[in-house]
Amino acid sequence: MAVDLLLGLQWGDEGKGKIVDVLTQGYDIIARFQGGPNAGHTLEFNGIKHVLHTIPSGIFHPTSINIIGNGVVIDPIIFKKEIDGLAPYNVPLKDNLLISRKAHLILPTHRLLDAASEASKGKAKIGSTLKGIGPTYMDKTGRNGLRVGDIELDDFEVRYRNLTDKHQEMLANYKVDIQYNLKELEAEFFEAVKVLKGFQLIDSEEYLYQALKQGKKILAEGAQGSLLDIDFGTYPFVTSSNTTAAGACTGLGVAPRSIGEVIGIFKAYTTRVGSGPFPTELFDEAGETMTQVGREFGATTGRRRRCGWLDLVALKYAVQVSGVTQLVMMKADVLSGFDTLKVCTSYLYKGKEIKHLPYNIEEQNVTPVYTELKGWHQNLTDIKDYAQLPKELTDYVDFLEKELEVPIKVVSVGPDRTQTITR
Ligand code: GDP
Ligand code: IMO
Ligand code: MG
Repeated sequence: MAVDLLLGLQWGDEGKGKIVDVLTQGYDIIARFQGGPNAGHTLEFNGIKHVLHTIPSGIFHPTSINIIGNGVVIDPIIFKKEIDGLAPYNVPLKDNLLISRKAHLILPTHRLLDAASEASKGKAKIGSTLKGIGPTYMDKTGRNGLRVGDIELDDFEVRYRNLTDKHQEMLANYKVDIQYNLKELEAEFFEAVKVLKGFQLIDSEEYLYQALKQGKKILAEGAQGSLLDIDFGTYPFVTSSNTTAAGACTGLGVAPRSIGEVIGIFKAYTTRVGSGPFPTELFDEAGETMTQVGREFGATTGRRRRCGWLDLVALKYAVQVSGVTQLVMMKADVLSGFDTLKVCTSYLYKGKEIKHLPYNIEEQNVTPVYTELKGWHQNLTDIKDYAQLPKELTDYVDFLEKELEVPIKVVSVGPDRTQTITR
């Protein structure tokens, strides 16, 4: 028995939430393995849209168990808001949601440190979601962090105070003025910690080990995307966790040999929110069309997502780093209406044509080389069958498959659960 992975292959927001929700019926357990509330995973069904930040996207299927793994960082305040938001939907959260004791906690001061760090960087800022992700993972690797399991300890408040005091000293060292009322933030935090305590806190690596032994089917849900990976992304404009396949092993405690299918998900074009290089970014009408038709505004921060053509050099790299075995292509419907579609198939790098992602893909180093394909004009959103898709789209899919050497098994033609075409 194996753990399958679902990973974003670009700069996040590929549509992971939608596809995890669609795939959940084939799995017993859905487990998030990294990231935190920087994620915004959107699900749409029965005319309702849900955005999940910390809770895995299998939560709406009453028979699936959802695990927040040790690699995730949890902000109790945002977690409580998410729980409150689910109240009208009678989701059996107390039974179906399990949380690793080893997951790290985002404290109010982590968010303040994130804000101070970004402000002090000025123009060079990462464009973080300001959810405290970087500082929390820094405390984890610096061996100072607080974990979910700590809230069960008698001296949790003492541990909290020690770390918060240290954070306040750090904040005072920044040359930027961050206004905050710690008393208010703390009251909210401790109220939310009480809510968190009411959930099943588990040793999730043991739970998953036993589940695998019993033959349960497990899907690991990634957050962010491969190009935001702390090691393999466009550093320093990345997030602070491993978003690629290896992250699922450390973020859940499952062994590499237990990994089965690696499902990679990408948009039919490319988007990026926040700062950092983006070789195929468009600043013209085509980019604006993608933003408007694709409603490319962040699910977590509401920020406008930068848009551009599909970058196969970057996508191939992501496929390679994670050993992707099957692909899912999202938002094909957004490309309806273009006469011609461009796909970046190589880079001109320091005067040479290359097909791999170099160390630095800053604009001054890299010029995308495009292959043009014919577009289509039909509206795709009501199509249910692969055979009914316009020939230009199936040609587009065939072209990508050939370049990427991995089969594209699913094409998504709209945000709803039902707008998903399996081949
Ligand atoms: P995630 O972070 O990877 O889960 O993706 P987000 O939820 O942040 O962003 C994806 C956005 O695209 C959401 O608003 C989805 O509702 C929407 N979406 C997903 N699949 C499709 C699709 O095939 N077509 C269109 N038009 N929208 C889609
Ligand atoms: P999902 O799971 C898109 C981006 C931020 C910023 C950088 C670092 O919804 O795909 P951080 O707050 O992590 O320190 O920000 O990473 N980023 C995302 N972009 N989708 C996400 O998550 C993201 N999570 C972080 O915009 O550029
Ligand atoms: Mg998102």
